[in-house]
Parts: sequence; structure tokens; C-alpha cells
Amino acid sequence: MSAAQFPVARPRRLRRGPAMRRLVQGTRLHAADLILPMFVKEGLTEPQPVASMPGVFQHTRDSLRKAAHEAAEAGVGGLILFGIPAVKDARGSAGDDPDGILQQALRDVNAEVGDALVVMADTCLDEVTDHGHCGILTPSGDVDNDATLERYASVAVAQAEAGAHMVAPSGMMDGQVGAIRTALDAAGHSGVPILAYSIKYSSALYGPFREAAECAPQFGDRSTHQQDPAGPQDEALREVRLDLAEGADAVMVKPAGAYLDVITHVRAEVDVPVAAYQVSGEYAMIEAAAANGWVDRDRMIHESLIAIKRAGADLILTYWAVEVARGL
Ligand code: PBG
Repeated sequence: MSAAQFPVARPRRLRRGPAMRRLVQGTRLHAADLILPMFVKEGLTEPQPVASMPGVFQHTRDSLRKAAHEAAEAGVGGLILFGIPAVKDARGSAGDDPDGILQQALRDVNAEVGDALVVMADTCLDEVTDHGHCGILTPSGDVDNDATLERYASVAVAQAEAGAHMVAPSGMMDGQVGAIRTALDAAGHSGVPILAYSIKYSSALYGPFREAAECAPQFGDRSTHQQDPAGPQDEALREVRLDLAEGADAVMVKPAGAYLDVITHVRAEVDVPVAAYQVSGEYAMIEAAAANGWVDRDRMIHESLIAIKRAGADLILTYWAVEVARGL
């Protein structure tokens, strides 16, 4: 056999050892890119574990403060807070009550770690309505888009007044970014950016979150506002363009792992930061498989996050943010 038959190009040369692989790595995670979602529930005296999300808790105000401090120490870039009030009603009054649980938590967390990381609020109504829908209902039980916009505007202003550094509307109402931008500006909060959940699919992967945030709809589902996973081609880009035109400062794709193609398309299209939300079901599936010994937990977590980063996400919302940040 002559030497000419051997390959000249040998990609394996760059994979020869850990040092070489580290040098040529094309995708890296940084603690500052990670955003930790956190839940706080009014009236709790002890943090409550979320059964379907091992390692995740519904926090008391006190335990939230401590967990926020740990996240800051680990170097994560941001926190996004979800509040569960003791009393819910049809219009989600706790959402814009200055003393609503989320507003209290925003003040607490801001005082604790507000200089170290970005404190965000999820801007929606499903955690605060008694029917569990993301907006105001019509008599026939549909979500009334425009009546809901007025509520979102008021909720976002309450969150900004409580110290939210950034608001993240997640309800998928048409015009929500514009309505919130106008309201924030009118209330003197033109400096508060909007991270728009621009592309949010109607996904089975939100199951565990609905236990964590106690926000499962009492009837029906969210398919009249969240996107159909099999929906029109380029619907995602349409949603993104609309949100940018309405003033979004950053955009989000959600869920992440099953929508890597969408992340890539959006990243190529926009000139603002792109976030991706590794949602509760993505977390629960890996934790459950790992608990059974079916997959290597640490490698699965790392690989799942690398995939999201490689697809083009600049920021990643993940329930593993603190653990991963500590390991980097
Ligand atoms: C709505 C909201 C949801 C999630 C984030 N914001 C639930 C939904 O749309 O049903 C899901 C996040 C997750 O599954 O981790 N406020």
C-alpha cells in the first residue's frame, strides 16, 4: 500500500486530547448567558419542592432571596421571577397590585442582588387568574386579546415600579409588546427593556411548569394564541418582526431543544439578542431519565445546553443555570 492512499486531511488531529479539543472549541457556555427561572408563592412558610422538577422549588420570600444570592454568587446573568398569589381572580388583580407577591419578590431580590445580575419579571396573567388563562376571558371563554393588552400594560408598569430591570411578556397576545412599551414609556420607564417571548409554541413541554406555577388552565388550552408546532412556514419570523417593530429589545424562542431550527432562523434574521427557554418538560425528561440511570445526567445537561447555544441562542433560560454556572 503506498503512502499516497492515506488521508491527507485528518479531522481527528484536532480531537486528540482534552487540551486540543478545548482550544478549538466552537461553542462555549458562559455563566453570564444563563438566566434562572424562579417561583415564589405567597403565604408559604417552607420552600415546597416541585414534584415533577426535582431540584426546583416554590420559594418563600425568604428562601427566594437566599437562592437569588446563590445565583448571583455563581455568576448567572439574570433571574426571571414567577409569582403565585394566595388569592386569584378572573382579571388577575394580583398581577398589578403593588403588594402582589411578584412585586414584593422583585423588591426583595432587587435589594439582595440587583447590582450583580438582571432581575426580570414574567409578564402574563396565567399565574394570577383563577381560570388559569393568560388573559381576560370573553363570556364564551375565549381570551379577549385587546382587553388583555390593557391588563398586560398595567402589570408591566407595576413590575417596573417594583424594580424589574426587564419585563418579559409571555402571553402571545397580538400587540402585547407595543402596548407594554407605550405604557412603560408613559409611566417614566423608558429605560426598562422588553424581552419578548416572540415565538412560543403551544407545547406539551410546559406540563411541569404548570405544577410549579399553579397555572394550568381550568378548561381549554392555549392553542388559540400560542403557535402551532406544525404552523405556517416562517410564522416564527413574522412574530419576531412584529415584536421588533413594536419595540422589543430582545426576543425569545420557547421551548428550546425541540425548536433548534427556529433559533437558527431567528438568529440569522435579527440584530438583537436571541434568548431560548429550556422549559420545564425538557428539564423533567432529563432528570427523570437520569434518575433511572438511563442517561448520564451531567453529560445530558451539558449537551442539551451546548445544542441550544450552537443553534444560535445568545441567552439561555434554564432551571440548571446555577449548577451549570458553578461548573464552568
Ligand atoms: C406563561 C408561561 C409558561 C411558561 C413560561 N411562562 C406556561 C405556559 O405558557 O403555559 C412555561 C415555562 C416552562 O415550561 O418551563 N406565563
